[in-house]
Parts: sequence; C-alpha cells; structure tokens
Amino acid sequence: MPAFPATRPRRNRRTPWLRALVRETSWSPANLIWPVFLTAGPEAEAIPSLPGVVRHPVSALAELAREAEALGIPAIALFPHTPAERRTPDGREALNPDNLVCRAIAEIRSATDAVGVMADVALDPYTSHGHDGLVDAQGRVLNDPTIEVLVGQALNQARAGADILAPSDMMDGRVGAIRRALEAEGFADVHLMAYAAKYASAFYGPFRDAVGAAGRLTGDKRGYQMDPANAREALLEVALDLEEGADSVIVKPGLAYLDVVQKVAERFDVPVFAYCVSGEYAMVEAAVRAGILERDAAVTEVMTAFRRAGARGVLTYHAPHLARLWSA
Ligand code: PBG
Repeated sequence: MPAFPATRPRRNRRTPWLRALVRETSWSPANLIWPVFLTAGPEAEAIPSLPGVVRHPVSALAELAREAEALGIPAIALFPHTPAERRTPDGREALNPDNLVCRAIAEIRSATDAVGVMADVALDPYTSHGHDGLVDAQGRVLNDPTIEVLVGQALNQARAGADILAPSDMMDGRVGAIRRALEAEGFADVHLMAYAAKYASAFYGPFRDAVGAAGRLTGDKRGYQMDPANAREALLEVALDLEEGADSVIVKPGLAYLDVVQKVAERFDVPVFAYCVSGEYAMVEAAVRAGILERDAAVTEVMTAFRRAGARGVLTYHAPHLARLWSA
C-alpha cells in the first residue's frame, strides 16, 4: 500500500455516491425478524420496561402479519405472556394445543403465507419457577427429562403451523431430539433455528417482564446458558446443533457478542442470526427518550454492525421501525 499522499482514504468518502459505491455492508428488511409479544387479553398491553413495544392480542395478529408483509419483513417470532395461574412446575401449558402461542400461529397462518411464523421452544413462559426446563428438589435444571417436554412443545407448535422452531432453552441434545420427532411426525420441512450460543446475560431483564417471568426466577440460568467469558465454547455449541439438525443458528445477545457472531459466521456455512435483545432495545430507547441519542441514526448503525460482523439477519424489536426507515 503506497503511503500518503498516493493513498488518501478520504478520497473514497467525499460524496454520498462515492460512499455508496465503496460501501462494504448493506441490509434490507429481508434481514429482519420481528419479535412479537402476545397477551391472552382482548386489548394491547404496554410493557413499561420496553417503551414502544406492546403485547398484542391474537385478534391484532392478522393485521400485524400483513404489516410485516408490506414492510418486507420475512418472519415474526412469537412470545406469549403467561399469567401466574397457567404456570406450573412442569410447564405443561406448553403442550396445550389451544395455548396462546398456538392460537397466534394459526391466526397468522390464516392471514398470510407470505410471512414466516417462528416460535421459541423453551419452558420458561410456562414454568412457575421461571426456568427453561424442569427443576428437581435441589433446584437443579434437569437436562434429559426437559428434552422430552421440549419435544412435545415443538410438535405442538409444528401442528399449529409454525414454520420455524427456535429452541432457546440451552439443554444439551435437544435439537437432535426435536429433529427426530419432527421427521417421525411428517414435519420434515420445519426449519430449526437453534439458539446455539445463548449467554447468561443481564440484558434479558425487560423480556422477562414482557412474558411475565420477572421476579419468578429462583436462582439464575448460569447452569445452562453460556458464560459471557467464553467464545470458543460457542463454536462447540454451534457445531453440535448443526450436527443434530439445525438449519440456522442464533447468537444472543447481540451487540456485546459481535465477536461471537463473526467467529460463527466465518467458521460455519449456515445462516447466522443475532438477537438484539430486550435490554439492548431498552438502552437505545432510554437514551433516545432522554435526548441523548438520535434514534434513526443509532438503530441504523446497530443494524449495520450486525451485518458487518456477518449476521445474515437480526431479531430486533426495532424491526418495524428499521423496515419503515429503509423504505422511506
Ligand atoms: C427464553 C428466552 C429469553 C429471551 C428469548 N427467549 C430470556 C431468557 O432466557 O431468560 C430473551 C429475549 C430478550 O431479552 O429480548 N427462553
């Protein structure tokens, strides 16, 4: 590389068209997955820790799905709020074919086929203790017995019409068990998007409010979610999930784990998604609402960062805002 003045990097930054010409990273609404919270109630409900995000009643979902379609957002990820009386230690509401998430899947399916419907596989929306799995008398989260319930939950959601199932529980071996059960039941086309590298993070706080898990959790999730200090271990997790039958993988949270997104994207030839989680959304919104950051510029920069790191797409609560900005 010749030295200055033969090389002047600023030459490539002089005008908007030049910057467009040399830009290395791009994104579009096709790179977005829209996470949507659900309520069994008749009206939308505000979520105080996630300003601008609401829990949607099932009756609003047909219109929401058509909005996603119009905006070019390919998929919606559903997260049910479960009231205390439907939570049990064994999370059996996960197996109810008429539960909130199954009704929501069916509602979207009846509205449009142009938008994919995704549902998490994990028991935390349904357990009274707030863990993603079954817990023994000593408070340990049990791996193999949990998998049996997760398989039932996955099949329940597949029968309701889910296109994408996203195991987010971090039990070992669950992707393989779910894949085998899907094949056996004739659901060979269901896409498994595994939360392969999901960290025990402080950034999930507002989500737990949104799904009614806040304040319920006994202990923490560090016995199954990953240690934020580890990146090599994420590669092991991804390799295992792919061997077991995952079609794509998620790294979660997002911004604080861009190095992990990049490592996974470089190593594996499957789509890698980043989940820009509730705490990340809430941080940006708090700063915007305090007059500290400019929203459009900040969310665009965050989206660009995920794509630059190698993410195929991003699950983000800013999805509809980003899609509108993009088409503006
Ligand atoms: C639960 C689940 C969590 C999120 C998605 N699925 C929370 C957790 O593991 O406690 C977090 C998403 C967010 O914070 O936006 N299996």
